[in-house]
Amino acid sequence: MPATQSDTAIHRDLILPELIAQLATARRETDDLFRIVRPDSLYERPIAERHRIVFYVGHLEAFDWNLFHERIPGLKSFHPEFDRLFAFGIDPVGGGLPTDQTSEWPSIVEVEQYVRKIRELLDEKLGEPIADSRPPAPDESQLSTLLNVAIEHRLMHAETLAYMLHQLPLDRKLRQQEYLQLATSPVEHRSIEVPAGTATLGLPRGGDAFGWDNEYEAHRVDVPAFAIDQYQVTNRRYLQFITEGGYETRAFWGDADSEEDWNWKSRQGISHPAFWRREGNQWLYRSMFEDLPLPLDWPVYVSQAEAKAYARWAGKLLPTEAEWHRAAYAAPHGDERAYPWGDNAPAARLGNFNFASWNSAPVNAFPAGQSAFGVRGLLGNGWEWTSTEFAPFPRFEPFPFYPGYSANFFDGKHFVMKGGSSRTAACMLRRTFRNWFQPHYQFVYAGFRCVSR
Ligand SMILES: [Fe+2]
Repeated sequence: MPATQSDTAIHRDLILPELIAQLATARRETDDLFRIVRPDSLYERPIAERHRIVFYVGHLEAFDWNLFHERIPGLKSFHPEFDRLFAFGIDPVGGGLPTDQTSEWPSIVEVEQYVRKIRELLDEKLGEPIADSRPPAPDESQLSTLLNVAIEHRLMHAETLAYMLHQLPLDRKLRQQEYLQLATSPVEHRSIEVPAGTATLGLPRGGDAFGWDNEYEAHRVDVPAFAIDQYQVTNRRYLQFITEGGYETRAFWGDADSEEDWNWKSRQGISHPAFWRREGNQWLYRSMFEDLPLPLDWPVYVSQAEAKAYARWAGKLLPTEAEWHRAAYAAPHGDERAYPWGDNAPAARLGNFNFASWNSAPVNAFPAGQSAFGVRGLLGNGWEWTSTEFAPFPRFEPFPFYPGYSANFFDGKHFVMKGGSSRTAACMLRRTFRNWFQPHYQFVYAGFRCVSR
């Protein structure tokens, strides 16, 4: 039934203010995150391949500004140099490292002024009744999409910045309270059979739900039967792989004709996960604010290359994106759920996500979040690597206002991750959300579980 004029008015009255409120909440999230950095450390570069922290302070606002100011009449750029300086991040695929010096960046006072001014100008404009805008101003649906892009772009940075600040030396951070208190029992690993069936991937076009360009379009995939680990691989299990010479055995790091992973590991001198540190004969875990004795039941966080090496050692494989979907969302009688636990929205008792913690939790900490097949810990507590190359779904179309968001990464050098981490916002726990990274990046809150076919 077509919407009546009054339906449309109600829709407009509710949706845009709600999205504007969500943008304000997302801003608070990123503001809080920058506050964990000691003020004298904002020009540090915690990860060699990435920008200095100060870039991100300016980037979140420059992105919003560049997105809106060209599309909403009446917004005039007041600092084009900063609009360009803070426009783009870095994706570290095999390139050289950035060489910029601290002195090349503007003062934090100037950057914060730029941020404040953008917020004032955008909030004033977004608060105006949409009826006052004249073409070529965006209509309500276009404005909703742009707001969702701004909100999720910021929330994604809230997560990737947490990875980055994780690597900042502990004495350069202001310790925050850890608020997740969990009582768990020992983890008993087992494998769960998932019968052959279909998985629905992607979003149908034309619906109300927001999705990024790479989530379209919806399509069904036939998936043969497989068995999957009930839990993510833990630090305990990964330690066994290391103890048994996992990093020194060439056969685990690819076939004889694929040397990339082995060469990467050897060249970089990598012999353990980036989140671990050796002190004497003890392994420590580099958590966000302190080094802990290795928490054996937490998921291990590693690059995809390390995950694949473990899987070969275990005589297993990484799941495909479609297998992961089956394990997470399918039910024995053929229906599919919105979330592993059912159709209810994410809640704190269902998983370690939505900024619930600065760190991981034991892999068996949230039994209420299990899937219909009994697979646990699928959402939150660490993304999960799949073996699927990040590529477009059928009938992919890039967003015209952000053409490179996904298309720049359809290069055979990035792989899909599913799930989420403790720092993944609830809105991005939707079934169709796809994350991706290159296989040699060790600093993501990403682990894995294995399958057998
Ligand atoms: Fe960005």
